[in-house]
Amino acid sequence: MKQAERVPNPSAPASPSTLPTPRIRAYRPSDLDALFNLDQICFAPGVAYSRAEIAGYLRRPDSRAWIAESAAESGREIAGFVIASCDRRRQGHIITLDVAPARRRRAVGSMLMETAENWVRRQGGSAVFLETAEDNLTAQAFYLRRGYARLGRIEDYYGKGEAAWSMGKSLAAF
Ligand SMILES: CC(C)(COP(=O)(O)OP(=O)(O)OC[C@H]1O[C@@H](n2cnc3c(N)ncnc32)[C@H](O)[C@@H]1OP(=O)(O)O)[C@@H](O)C(=O)NCCC(=O)NCCS
Repeated sequence: MKQAERVPNPSAPASPSTLPTPRIRAYRPSDLDALFNLDQICFAPGVAYSRAEIAGYLRRPDSRAWIAESAAESGREIAGFVIASCDRRRQGHIITLDVAPARRRRAVGSMLMETAENWVRRQGGSAVFLETAEDNLTAQAFYLRRGYARLGRIEDYYGKGEAAWSMGKSLAAF
């Protein structure tokens, strides 16, 4: 999984009263541009996925994606999304998890992870793994809170000098 942006995001969270709770739905091909745009906001240039990479992950037969969508004055708005896979060994993997800056700390990431973990469970999977940048302390705090543990440090995962943590969680325990 990718590295988060390194600069603080200037978007201040909106007031809770102005933010309806998003609903989770399955990915539709018409979402692709919006997912690409959100990924560009969530991750640093060169680390964010290209449109082709996102499309490639979404095409994989062993992957699924879910969207957190809210009603907005301008129509429907994507608050976040997750792409997950479950391989032949029935191990789940989080490919990416993106929540719009103004929607963070309102349980959108938790709802998306819950959906992805439940899907892995339904595939017969017993564990979920992911990688997160060593300097992405927000993501590490989020995953630790969800019961993930740091399993090992991966040197140069994102390029020279850019380490990641492999993190994982047994679904049996939860
Ligand atoms: C990481 C991310 C997905 C979290 O999404 P979120 O919707 O804000 O998470 P939630 O609101 O569900 O947070 C659940 C808990 O995680 C922890 N957490 C989340 N963000 C945190 C932060 N910035 N600092 C400390 N703990 C945090 C808290 O314990 C939080 O519970 P609380 O709000 O009741 O204290 C979001 O910050 C994001 O999209 N970041 C940029 C992309 C990214 O880094 N993705 C993961 C890459 S590995």
